Amino acid sequence: MIVTHLSLTDFRNYRTAEVSLVAGSNLFVGSNGQGKTNLVESLAYLSTLGSHRASVDHAMIRQGTDSAIIRARLEHDERQILAEVQLNRSAPNRAQVNRSVIKTRELPRYFSSVLFAPEDLALIRGDPAGRRRFLDELLVLRSPRMSGVIADYERVVRQRNTLLKSARSSGMRGDSLSTLDIWDERLVVLGSQLIDARTALVAELSPEVANAYTSIAGEDHHAMLGNQLSIFAGRSGAESVGEEDVDAGGLSYGRLTAEDAAAAFTKALADRRRSELERGITLVGPHRDDLVLELNSLPARGYASHGESWSFALALKLASAVLLQRESSTGDPVLMLDDVFAELDEARRTRLAVAIRGFEQVLITAAVLDDVPEELTGNTVHISRGTIVEQDLS
Ligand SMILES: Nc1ncnc2c1ncn2[C@@H]1O[C@H](COP(=O)(O)OP(=O)(O)OP(=O)(O)O)[C@@H](O)[C@H]1O
Ligand SMILES: [Mg+2]
Repeated sequence: MIVTHLSLTDFRNYRTAEVSLVAGSNLFVGSNGQGKTNLVESLAYLSTLGSHRASVDHAMIRQGTDSAIIRARLEHDERQILAEVQLNRSAPNRAQVNRSVIKTRELPRYFSSVLFAPEDLALIRGDPAGRRRFLDELLVLRSPRMSGVIADYERVVRQRNTLLKSARSSGMRGDSLSTLDIWDERLVVLGSQLIDARTALVAELSPEVANAYTSIAGEDHHAMLGNQLSIFAGRSGAESVGEEDVDAGGLSYGRLTAEDAAAAFTKALADRRRSELERGITLVGPHRDDLVLELNSLPARGYASHGESWSFALALKLASAVLLQRESSTGDPVLMLDDVFAELDEARRTRLAVAIRGFEQVLITAAVLDDVPEELTGNTVHISRGTIVEQDLS
């Protein structure tokens, strides 16, 4: 799928903008703070109903106005779709497809994109929560029913924590213990499904990340993903579970089936019950797990260099785009790379240009035109103070 035209009204620093886009590479250039990221953010919003840098929609409505409109003409297999969303400061947002009103939450079905932005560096350097979110978002994109499993699991964790806390303050009695057993069962059923889905995803993603990483960094670099599973952490020594070897810190590399996860989860809860009652929180389960990123057999977090961390974060995003591409019935997701070329050395820039050739459409932003390999500059859009000042379409 490609975007052939983007129109914005009162979005961020754009009063209005009309941008024509082509298949292949499209480059947005301009000095800092002119509106390059705003353009890709608007398209990312259309496909995810969220922003990578604002937790509230009204941040995207131009200051002093009440609503913003993002409208994109999409094309796949010679079929055209006009997708549109209006963000309202004091009313619910509204979405339309081909000028007919649809439920806003249905909009992402019509358009898929993968955005890589500087904020994604937190995938490498930040807390486990960001990596869990990355996996869960990809899970939901690939199988929407997981959204219910994740929401139910999180609710059970909250309710179980409330019970643990009240048990701690009132002293543990028989009836609250049996209530706890019921919550444990729900926790294990839902949590094991999530562990299964996440570890299966990691197993599928890992070779793609390795591929993407070598395509950017060269053959002698090996990136790999693993799972840090809290249901195994703190046991003595390594062990085998199903077909998986798990080390004493809970690190494993392959898929753990829901059945194997459930058995280990149940045992971990029994082992930890005392500390859980003392602390009043649920100590094991997928809400405490981590996605482990390794580069040449070292953890990326705390070891990888600046350029390596960018390359790894980028490899995670490229790999997710490859998985989405593989299953999509509407063509490739539109790949958007915000501000990445400036962070890479010459060799990596050239390799990245080659690596993204396989995508139907790529949108790139850069403050400095010379940072971007020439083969990607075919459609260059110059941006200044929220205005499209010039478009060179060669
Ligand atoms: N709701 C809003 N209303 C008006 N202006 C806004 C709004 N939100 C952001 N801006 C302005 O948009 C500008 C930032 O645009 P953007 O992030 O797209 O810059 P950029 O071109 O990507 O810059 P850089 O090269 O530094 O990444 C800032 O000047 C900011 O004040
Ligand atoms: Mg920017």
